Amino acid sequence: MITERIDQLMAEVQDLKATTEQEVEALRIKYLSKKGLLNDLMADFRNVAADQKKEVGMKINALKTLATERINSLRENLQACSEVGGNIDLTRTPYPVRLGSRHPLTIVKNEIVDIFSRLGFTLAEGPEVEDDWHVYGSMNFADDHPARDMQDTFFVEAHPAVVLRSHTSSVQARVMERTQPPIRVICPGRVYRNEAISARAHCFFHQVEGLYVAEKVSFTDLKQVLILFAQEMFGPETRIRLRPSYFPFTEPSAEMDISCFLCGGKGCGFCKHTGWVEILGCGMVDPAVLESNGIDSGKYHGYAFGMGVERITNLKYQVSDLRLFSENDQRFLDEFQGAN
Ligand code: DAH
Repeated sequence: MITERIDQLMAEVQDLKATTEQEVEALRIKYLSKKGLLNDLMADFRNVAADQKKEVGMKINALKTLATERINSLRENLQACSEVGGNIDLTRTPYPVRLGSRHPLTIVKNEIVDIFSRLGFTLAEGPEVEDDWHVYGSMNFADDHPARDMQDTFFVEAHPAVVLRSHTSSVQARVMERTQPPIRVICPGRVYRNEAISARAHCFFHQVEGLYVAEKVSFTDLKQVLILFAQEMFGPETRIRLRPSYFPFTEPSAEMDISCFLCGGKGCGFCKHTGWVEILGCGMVDPAVLESNGIDSGKYHGYAFGMGVERITNLKYQVSDLRLFSENDQRFLDEFQGAN
């Protein structure tokens, strides 16, 4: 009988609950005080047969230990809760919290934006889902220009065309249509192209576009800014080379190479033994582009440039496979811990 009573109390104590200090105190009185249930048990214990005393005694002790522990821990929990204002978040990650790192593309994008900010460029952004006019029309792409083709552009809607922008040059248009010169902006953003995914190509990547429109802007100004950028980004020994090129929105247009910063221009596997690596496209804004966007091309001139963030990141950190940038492999990302 007494053992049954002990078992029943054991089960009860196991399950004790209290939401206030008063309730905890009431439990203490009920079980552990002089007139409590445990002392009642001790009174009954005197009547237990001598040969069972040892076993029953041990059971009562176990019950007492359990009751004391339960009541103490209820009290401690309530005190801990009241110290943090009653709001203890049991789902919170325990310490130490593991620090993350910035994504390499973010690190490099921030660095590019930072360099141009110091030259007086301000940040501008635009939508990734764009209309045909801002991506192509206002940028002087002819109606039948191959870049509009399905093979390059992701179409969201066919007529009138809504696309995922295939370059950040669309942000130039958005800035020009709402601002009169002087304009000096740097526009980072994600762009999309319908390419098969491989180590060297992806269906989305990131660009940074630069645009300067004012009176008397010359190609020399462009070149000067680009030299400065290259040396800030890749070191003071860096040289640049401009090769004539073609873009619908610039005239004249050029592509810029930097001296290979691995071999210093002597030629290595990385620069395919040419001593140079291409990093961006640039040129003087075509007067037709200024006019399309409501800027007087008789009065104002401009230069523009655009570069791929992945490309610059590959050069800086020698990442050999573009897919690493979007796979979120923890081992890859961890390599950029502390890179800022
Ligand atoms: N939009 C070009 C591309 O996606 C890059 C570019 C080249 C941007 C020359 C420019 C520029 O602003 O002047 O390949």
